[in-house]
Amino acid sequence: MGASLVVVEEEVKMSAIGAGINVDLPRGHLVVDIGGGTTDIAIISAGEIVVSRSVKVAGKSLNEEIVKYIRSEYNVAIGIVTAEKVKKNIGSLVKYPNERSIQIYGRDIVSGLPKEAKITSDEIRNVLLSSFSKITDVVIEVMENTPPELAGDIMKNGIMLCGGGALIRNIDKYFFDIFQLPTKIAAEPLGCVIEGTKLYEKTILRKVEEGVYDDQQKTYLEGLS
Ligand SMILES: Nc1ncnc2c1ncn2[C@@H]1O[C@H](COP(=O)(O)OP(=O)(O)O)[C@@H](O)[C@H]1O
Ligand SMILES: [Mg+2]
Repeated sequence: MGASLVVVEEEVKMSAIGAGINVDLPRGHLVVDIGGGTTDIAIISAGEIVVSRSVKVAGKSLNEEIVKYIRSEYNVAIGIVTAEKVKKNIGSLVKYPNERSIQIYGRDIVSGLPKEAKITSDEIRNVLLSSFSKITDVVIEVMENTPPELAGDIMKNGIMLCGGGALIRNIDKYFFDIFQLPTKIAAEPLGCVIEGTKLYEKTILRKVEEGVYDDQQKTYLEGLS
C-alpha cells in the first residue's frame, strides 16, 4: 500500500488522545472506551498504558440483552436493529426528565404472528444496568492494579468516557455516583479513535522530521532481529 512507516498502537490510547487528553505528560488518566464488541479500560500516563483490561460487554452485547429481555418479558422476538433503536432512543443509566416509552414490533414467539409491545425507559435501564455492573467491576479491578503514585492524578483527572457507548443517557452521572470521581464524556465519543489517530500521526511525523522517532524505530528494529 506504499506505507513507509507502520506504527501499531492500542486503540484506547488513540481514544484518549482523541478525547483531548495529553497522554505524553507524566499524569495518570483513566479512560473507559465503550465500543461495539469490547469495553476497554486503561490507565495512561507518559504515553504508556500502565494498566488495562478489556471486557466483552459493549454495544453489541447490550443489544443482545435487550433482545433477550423483550423475548422473555413479552414473548416477542425482535431483531438486533430494533434493539439498537430501543437502546439509542430510550436507553439510560440514570433516570432522565421526560422519560418515554417506545413501541416496538416483532414476532410473537408462541403464535408466530406479528406483535407489538410498549417498552419503557425504566425497563431498558434495568437491562443496561445489569450489564454495566460488569463494566464497573473491571474499572475497579483496573484501579486496584494502578500504582499508588497515580492515585492522586486519577482522583483529580477522573474518568474519561468514550466510544459509542458513552452516548447512553446519563452515563456520566452513573459513573460519578459509583466512583465519586469527576467524569467526562468525550466531545465526540464515536470519533475519538479516528481523531486521536490523526493527531498521533502528526506527532510521529514531527518526530521523524526531527530525527527523534527514526532513532527509536531503528533501536526497536535492531532489538527484534
Ligand atoms: N446514541 C447511542 N447510544 C448508545 N449506544 C450507541 C449510540 N450510538 C452508538 N452506539 C453504540 O456504539 C457502538 C459503536 O461504538 P464505537 O466506539 O464506534 O465502537 P468500535 O470502536 O468497537 O467500532 C455500537 O455498538 C452502537 O450501538
Ligand atoms: Mg473503539
